[in-house]
Amino acid sequence: MIKLITLLLALVPQILPAPAEMQVREGYFKVDGDKHMEFVLKPSAPIPAEGYTLEVTRTRVKAVASTEAGLFYARQTLAQLEQDGKIPCVKIKDYPRFRWRGLMVDASRHFMSVEQIKQHIDILSQYKINVLHWHLTDDQGWRVEIKKYPRLTEVGAVRTEFDGSVTKGYYTQEQIREVVAYAAERFVTVVPEIEMPGHSMAAIRSYPELSCDKQPVGNFSVWGSPDIVLCPGSEFTFQFLEDVVAEIAPLFPGRYFHIGGDECRKVRWEKCPACQARIAAEGLKADEKGTAEEKLQSYAVRRMEGILAKYGKSLVGWDEILEGGLSPNATVMSWRGEKGGIQAAREGHDVVMTPGSGGLYLNHYQGDPKAEPEGYAHHYVLQTAYDYNPVPAELTPEEARHILGIQGNLWGEYIYTDYMRDYLTFPKMFAVAETAWTPLEKKDFPDFCRRLDAACQRLDSLGVAYHMPLPEQPGGSISQIAFRDSAVLTFTTSRPMEMVYTLDGSKPTAESARYEGPIVVRNSGMLRIASLSSYGKLSAERTVSFEKMDPIPALHPAQLTGKLSVRHTPGAFTIPHDIPLNAVWTSCELDDIRRIPKLYPFHANMQDPHFFAAEGEGYFQVPQTDAWSFSSLYDEVWIDGRLVIDNRGEVRKNFRHDGMLVLEKGVHHIRVVFLSNVVGGWTTARNKGEVLMKQAQNETWRNIILQ
Ligand code: ACM
Ligand code: ZN
Repeated sequence: MIKLITLLLALVPQILPAPAEMQVREGYFKVDGDKHMEFVLKPSAPIPAEGYTLEVTRTRVKAVASTEAGLFYARQTLAQLEQDGKIPCVKIKDYPRFRWRGLMVDASRHFMSVEQIKQHIDILSQYKINVLHWHLTDDQGWRVEIKKYPRLTEVGAVRTEFDGSVTKGYYTQEQIREVVAYAAERFVTVVPEIEMPGHSMAAIRSYPELSCDKQPVGNFSVWGSPDIVLCPGSEFTFQFLEDVVAEIAPLFPGRYFHIGGDECRKVRWEKCPACQARIAAEGLKADEKGTAEEKLQSYAVRRMEGILAKYGKSLVGWDEILEGGLSPNATVMSWRGEKGGIQAAREGHDVVMTPGSGGLYLNHYQGDPKAEPEGYAHHYVLQTAYDYNPVPAELTPEEARHILGIQGNLWGEYIYTDYMRDYLTFPKMFAVAETAWTPLEKKDFPDFCRRLDAACQRLDSLGVAYHMPLPEQPGGSISQIAFRDSAVLTFTTSRPMEMVYTLDGSKPTAESARYEGPIVVRNSGMLRIASLSSYGKLSAERTVSFEKMDPIPALHPAQLTGKLSVRHTPGAFTIPHDIPLNAVWTSCELDDIRRIPKLYPFHANMQDPHFFAAEGEGYFQVPQTDAWSFSSLYDEVWIDGRLVIDNRGEVRKNFRHDGMLVLEKGVHHIRVVFLSNVVGGWTTARNKGEVLMKQAQNETWRNIILQ
């Protein structure tokens, strides 16, 4: 009986994205080579472009489409239907909701190999994604060969990290052609992006005359938007951009060319004689719509649009290109929420919706940041991305026609490995794919999750990583728990999934105890827990240790100053252990623990952070005897001589390693260690220096108060 049910379930179609219309019939077709399978290309058929019809009976398979792309998608659907040589009998009429179904990959921050790009194209085209937006240049790396400007790849494609390692790589024009052709075979259009006028440090490093002050700039290996940008006052800048377009445009047969346009800081333009001369000559004036410098950005974008038109390309840019006016032919990518997209559609521009707030930034966490591998920031679960509707309710039907579609963006700052690139891309891109293709009324998250399991198994067969929900703790995951009498360990997952665990130190397996509800522990021990998919795969494991302890007694120091005693020493250290024993320290007192990272001013340009190590110690108040949680980005936090937070050697951008202690009401000792350094591109000088505490899982964090 169970076998029969399993068999029946297995034959329920698992098509992703869900087709527009489908009837499932009894029986199945047994695959027998290509016999009895017919794929008909009929340009006159009344089937929308990229759409197809597919009929599977017990005796034959027939697909009809009006375009080659439609037939390709019929084959993808068929491949997903087939299981063990059988295809369930179905009648499908399918077509896309949107014509722009995209993924953006950032090859600048961390290089993405041609092989991995091809693999992503291969996989995503199976899910009817048809645009690959290739972010080829940014501050931290220029990744495309330009024959007229060899330094772009000799200099701009090589970055020395603060730990001395080198990140490099670029695509030759031949490789670009190869990727574009590979994509075209799978009906994917590749859209290049060359960033201007901001996010251009790699170009400026190669050719300093592109910037306002034309001064050489050093290695740039931290994340963020520097204020050194292209100089739109200089004709050389536009000559350079045109030369680049002249070489790039012919490599990409598609219509669209992305020029970036986002996050351009304009302070240098205010002081640049050439920029100010341009502002005067062009009559660019500050008004209620923006400053003269913002008008200058608009001028630069319009010049770029003219250059692109010469090479037969249409401009696409991030929503900042709307500032100061834009020609109607330009397409706007709305990333800062939907506001830009709405404005653009109302002004008659085509729009691609890609707001991070809609869950469309794949680099954002898919699960609790305190449980996930180190990442960018923000937390949008799979369902947020799935539920995103790219057509805002405030648009009229006429305006809504300008919404070309939707795109997932995968920014690469924190993608240190190919594994992480895959882990972040999947399965969120499958949610994007379904929103992009499936009619709104056919979307159904629980059913999507069922079909997702089949898609994830296909990734497993390719050895491609993907995010599996981890066991998470409500109120913030924590791996070090302390309690007085007992503790309640509660776990959830970012979408419904079973969990298995052990309490005896052994590795959890599919056969381990199922998590049925909160686990009460009364003695010290360790819990190992993993999520378990419907197809038997275990997620990465989480280990939670819990310690029964008596309250650590309060202290009664002779004098309380309300201040932190701090000592600091210059130097770039990766871990506290690296500080030499003979370091020369400078002492001071601070009245706020948060001031430690600000002992030295932080350079607005982010180029030359002041490197130092600091230790601070003092006393703080515990208002009640209880188990207290602590959270901080300091390298180490010690309380009453116990290491309660250990972030040593990590990228300290997001709070991740919370710890707990049972403390008696009263005064306790705290000692923190801070390293001003850059790890993985993150400058810790940007950290707020907080040490947060709270009493219970659902309370909000508060700053410690020095005594
Ligand atoms: C962007 O995320 N800066 C477009
Ligand atoms: Zn300038």
